[in-house]
Amino acid sequence: MAVVNCAIQLNIPDTVDLKTPTTLSQLCTTLKCDPSFLYRIMRFLTHRNIFKQISAASDPLYAHTPLSRLLIKNHEESMAPFVVMESSPVMVGAWHNLSGRVVVNGTPPFVKTHGMDLWGYGEGNREHSDVFNEAMACDARRTVRAMVEECKETLEDITSVVDVGGGNGTCMRLLRKACPWITCINFDTPHVVPNNSHSQPQDGLQHVGGDMFVAVPKADAAFLMWVLHDWGDEECIQILKTCKEAIPHKNGRVIIAEAVIEEEGFNSKADKLKDVGLMLDMVMMAHTNIGKERTLKEWEYLITQAGFSTFTLKNINSLKSIIIAFP
Ligand SMILES: C[S@@+](CC[C@H](N)C(=O)[O-])C[C@H]1O[C@@H](n2cnc3c(N)ncnc32)[C@H](O)[C@@H]1O
Repeated sequence: MAVVNCAIQLNIPDTVDLKTPTTLSQLCTTLKCDPSFLYRIMRFLTHRNIFKQISAASDPLYAHTPLSRLLIKNHEESMAPFVVMESSPVMVGAWHNLSGRVVVNGTPPFVKTHGMDLWGYGEGNREHSDVFNEAMACDARRTVRAMVEECKETLEDITSVVDVGGGNGTCMRLLRKACPWITCINFDTPHVVPNNSHSQPQDGLQHVGGDMFVAVPKADAAFLMWVLHDWGDEECIQILKTCKEAIPHKNGRVIIAEAVIEEEGFNSKADKLKDVGLMLDMVMMAHTNIGKERTLKEWEYLITQAGFSTFTLKNINSLKSIIIAFP
């Protein structure tokens, strides 16, 4: 990840031409890099299918691959902000204290490293909070697209959605664009929601600051994407209960976008997705207090304990699946 982050910092993905292959010397001139060092970086990346080398001449030619395209900053599918966030010293620091979490009565690695949890840290560090929210937004773009395409029936008969823990509002902006009949509320902590205040709705999108453990703005559906995996079971049940209070008993729903980890010995999801899900589980251990990725049984437990009568599960073209809980 450090090498990929180095490539992003140097602006290599944005400099390699999308149509015509770019030579090492062109890259060195544009990026003011030393050819011998840059060659070694490119040799490592191309070995992992991040760029491809298309000539072995003394001045090698490089072209993009599907993976390297994801690292272009000005690309609608860019995952560069995610790599930048995960490789920031703030996040990497926590990994050095992972073992201290695993021992009996251990301390959350992020708290051990920074003296407070991730959310408290973001409140006092605007710059890191922005880096974090941008990272969340880049993955949200993919998931919302997949959800809109593959869960049409869920969105057709609702007129309002509140995105609980919606970050910088990317998700609701995209949903509003794709489903203009839905009024969208982006709800997050007051330091994340723009202007630190309750804003007036603009173009069918409103930002509201608050605490999801206390109350959530009312809507036909509450949306929770990558929020519950940050928390332990008790907190999740509390969040689900406040969401349940915000939606109508008849035809209301809570839409959860989260990974569903395969049960032991049951391998229907592609291996690669399972691998990413398990990786994310380690990220939860390093960066949250008691967050974790969950199996279907564990999701069922939370939903039932929060008082929902039934739920559905749909796998979409994303690491995340869509779980819909009904009161
Ligand atoms: C992992 S991020 C997910 C962001 C967004 N849903 C997405 O997937 O792109 C979790 C979000 O929960 C928010 N959050 C944490 N504690 C909260 C609270 N008590 N009330 C409301 N939001 C909270 C964080 O600020 C953060 O934006």
